[in-house]
Amino acid sequence: MSASALLFHLSDIHFGLEDNRALDWVRDEIVRLRPDAVAITGDMTMRARAREFDAARKWILSLEAPVTVVVGNHDMPYFNPVERFLAPYARFRGMETLIEREIDLPGIAIVPLKTATRAQWRLNWSKGWVTDAALGKCLAALDALPEGTRALVTVHHPLREVGTQGTALTRGGTRALAELARRDVLAVLSGHVHDAFDIVEETPAGPVRMIGAGTLSKRTRSTPPSFNELRWDGDALNVTVRNLEQVPTPAMQIDDVPENALPPRDPGEPVAPVGQVPRTDPPVH
Ligand SMILES: [Fe+2]
Ligand SMILES: [Fe+2]
Repeated sequence: MSASALLFHLSDIHFGLEDNRALDWVRDEIVRLRPDAVAITGDMTMRARAREFDAARKWILSLEAPVTVVVGNHDMPYFNPVERFLAPYARFRGMETLIEREIDLPGIAIVPLKTATRAQWRLNWSKGWVTDAALGKCLAALDALPEGTRALVTVHHPLREVGTQGTALTRGGTRALAELARRDVLAVLSGHVHDAFDIVEETPAGPVRMIGAGTLSKRTRSTPPSFNELRWDGDALNVTVRNLEQVPTPAMQIDDVPENALPPRDPGEPVAPVGQVPRTDPPVH
C-alpha cells in the first residue's frame, strides 16, 4: 500500500487581529480529522509584540498535531530595528523547536525555506528574500531525503519575482523556484498574499506547483478566513480551501499571485509610534 497523508496548511493568523471564531474551528477540525502535520506559513503576529507571540504560542502549542512554522515579515520586531537585527527570533521562545522544522512522514516531507530576512538593501524590507544560505540549507535538506520521497517546501513569501527588483515580491525567488523544479518537489506552500491559490509556475528547469493559503485573521482581502486541507494519496495532491462560509474551493482561489500584494489599511490598525518614520505605503501582508 502506498503512503498517503493529510496535511493542514495555515497562514497569516496575525495574532493581534486574529479571527477567534475561525481559530476555534480550525483547532476542532484538527481534533476531528487528525492531520499528519500542520504547516504554518508565517505572519503569526501583527507587529511581533510580546503579547501577540504569547497568544500565538498558546494556540499553536494547543494543536494536537505535529506543527512546523516558517517566519513571516510581521513576525520580525517591526519597530525595533536593533532587536530585529540582533535577536530576531528571541520572541519565539517556547516554540523554537517548531520554527523552520522539517517534518518527515512516510513518502513525503515538509521542508522549510526561509524568506523573511532581518535586513536587506531595499526600502521595503517586508518583501521576501531567498538568501544563498537559506536556499543552500533547503536544497541540502531536499537532497538528503530518501530516494522517492516527495517534498512540500514551505515559505512565507510566494517565490514570485516579477517586474523590477524594487517591486519584486521575493528577491531570489526565480532562482529558488528553478532549483526546486530540479528536485522532487510536489509543491511550494506559501502565505503572505491572504488569498488562496493553486497555480503552476514555469521555470527554465520545468514547472513548479505553487499553493498559497489564505488568512485566519480579520485582514481578509476578497475571501473569508480559510486554510488549506491537503490530501496526498501517494501520487496526487488535492487541495480544499476550507472556510466557515461554505464557499467552494474554486471561488476561494485567485488565478494568479498579485505582483503588488497590498491590502487596504485595516481600520484601527496601529501606525508607527511617535519618533518612528511612518510607513508611506499600506501595510503589507
Ligand atoms: Fe507577510
Ligand atoms: Fe500576512
